[in-house]
Amino acid sequence: MQVKNTTYYDDSTLKRWIEDDSLTEVLNKRADAIRKEIYGDKVYVRGLIEFSNICKNDCYYCGIRKSNYHVERYRLSEEDIISCAKLGYKLGYRTFVLQGGEDGYFTDDIMVDIVKKIKALHDDIAITLSLGERSYESFKRLFEAGADRYLLREETSDKDHYQKLHPSSMSFENRRDALRKLKEIGFQVGGGFMVGSPYQTTESIIKDLRFLEELQPAMIGIGPYMTQHDTPFKDFPNGSFEMTLRLVSILRILFPYALIPATTALGTINPLGRERGLQAGANVLMPNLSPTMVREKYSLYDNKICTGDEAAECRACLELRIKNAGYQIVTDRGDVITYDKKTRRYS
Ligand code: 5AD
Ligand code: FES
Repeated sequence: MQVKNTTYYDDSTLKRWIEDDSLTEVLNKRADAIRKEIYGDKVYVRGLIEFSNICKNDCYYCGIRKSNYHVERYRLSEEDIISCAKLGYKLGYRTFVLQGGEDGYFTDDIMVDIVKKIKALHDDIAITLSLGERSYESFKRLFEAGADRYLLREETSDKDHYQKLHPSSMSFENRRDALRKLKEIGFQVGGGFMVGSPYQTTESIIKDLRFLEELQPAMIGIGPYMTQHDTPFKDFPNGSFEMTLRLVSILRILFPYALIPATTALGTINPLGRERGLQAGANVLMPNLSPTMVREKYSLYDNKICTGDEAAECRACLELRIKNAGYQIVTDRGDVITYDKKTRRYS
């Protein structure tokens, strides 16, 4: 079993794979075979807790950007967050993803406390954080408190493109540095990008793939760009479903060992999107564990699925859907295959 890819695929091959709609099926099949060889038919599930939609950033594509005054803002209390994790454990989840906007309320002291309390509930839990950019010291404290993984999509690896997606207060270099720091500290790191975001070109996607080859993240999350009607990008169309599926497969081919989710955005753009994502090489699902009352408010983009059987409570419906697609949900932490439990590091 070859966990890491050793073949070099040149830019023209990648370009063809990214652009050619007639290749979707071939690439999906090839990726599925690789995934089966390494991870079998296992699908890892993560309980997603979207604990705050308050954000100091103003990314032009994002529905919870600070300048969107149409969003009703919320912040879960520490008790609520821990209750979500307790409920999730009962439902069979062993990884909790704490995701929020860059909300200054959640200082290091508060986050460290939450991480420690959740980890103390059971000894077979993993915690993934998705809190945006923080300092090296902050990341380190969170890791030492017991957080295992950190998701921070690079969004794009093309500097010009980055500057078209973000206001000048946000820095392309800081984003990439943050990912490198997280990896150095020992987190299982997740990068990723949107497919079909405004001004994206095939060349910029190839730059992403090259950046990821350098970073070798444990996890890679991609989904189609989805229009949000209250953002400066409201007139740009959704990204392509087919291209996203091909990119999931390309990721599996380039990063055989990686944990790759079939994302909510993929499930929003197409009703069978997550099943198709799994068949294209993805091996992770992240159902929503947030309290029902706040789910609609975490509206990164229009029509985001949030109350149907993607919800974490509906474990039985989810299991059935996944089984019908040819896979099997498993109840364990689902670390990346190269992870060493003793050192808490992966290679
Ligand atoms: N469409 C798709 N994905 C989006 N994200 C933010 N806004 C959108 C959108 N309009 C993604 C970003 C971010 C993640 C939390 O959600 O990639 O990193
Ligand atoms: Fe940057 Fe939401 S404001 S992703």
